[in-house]
Amino acid sequence: MKTLFISREPLPPVIEAAREMFDVTIGTEALDRAAAATALQDYDAMIPTLGDDFGAETFAAAGDIRCKVLANFGVGYNHIDVDAAKAAGLVVSNTPDVLTDATADIGMTLILSTCRRAGEGERLLRSGAWGGFGPKSMLGTHVTGKTVGIVGMGRIGAAVARKCHHGFDMKVIYHNRSRKDAPVPAEQVDSLHDLMHRADIVVVTVPGGPATTHLIDAEALAAMRPEGIFVNIARGEVVDEAALIDALEAGTIAGAGLDVYENEPHVPERLRALENCVLLPHLGSATYETRVAMGMMAVDNAKAWAEGRPLPQAV
Ligand code: DGY
Repeated sequence: MKTLFISREPLPPVIEAAREMFDVTIGTEALDRAAAATALQDYDAMIPTLGDDFGAETFAAAGDIRCKVLANFGVGYNHIDVDAAKAAGLVVSNTPDVLTDATADIGMTLILSTCRRAGEGERLLRSGAWGGFGPKSMLGTHVTGKTVGIVGMGRIGAAVARKCHHGFDMKVIYHNRSRKDAPVPAEQVDSLHDLMHRADIVVVTVPGGPATTHLIDAEALAAMRPEGIFVNIARGEVVDEAALIDALEAGTIAGAGLDVYENEPHVPERLRALENCVLLPHLGSATYETRVAMGMMAVDNAKAWAEGRPLPQAV
């Protein structure tokens, strides 16, 4: 039986499916470079996930590599240097589609909760300091009918566009590095600066990795209007977090809803101290159904490798 290492414990149906074909070992924490290199030497197949270090240095450190497949648990694979993995003779896959709606739903959660100050309101109530309804108290920003600016019209960006258009009658504009159709009436805006300026609510959905690191920098944030709301459901490193904190502190933008951070799980104290943002702990794909589907897809890819078939979700 081939050996499979799953770096973090998945849900029971996923373990069961994996055990049909593999001798399974389950890890307990994110793999740093040394642990990832050792795992590459010790197992035939692996299901890694976000937080594991499969950068180029890991493959170099591993030397003699036994592992032949990295069936990533997650659509984002910026923690894997795919070129280095392929050069070392591995195949790599991810889990697209199955988490699109769950992640877009977290985008909607952040749009609504940030615009309507839900986090702040809940903190007020729980503190016991709520003084009751008042015509001027806790006023937020109207969502229905506003302009949403989506950065990245991939699967998740398209799902956010659909939900904003059909659910909230929003005008959709988007920025994408190549020409791309949107699933609803929408305008593609070539300049990121223009999109940031025109949108009432900006939602970032681009993949992470070197091509998008700090795509949203101080200059891009400066293009937003003071009433603008910024939402990130992509990867933390897409945004210059220090510049975002500066903008929130200075009030050059009205608020932010974040699900991802530059150095997870570290979230800067200055960010946590701000009232005008809603901070979630990377919940994008965190529904039971989605996490089972992601795990099953990762296992399917590992099984395809074991059976000598092409990986259905190869990257
Ligand atoms: C994904 O699938 O990329 C989620 O962000 C979890 O890693």
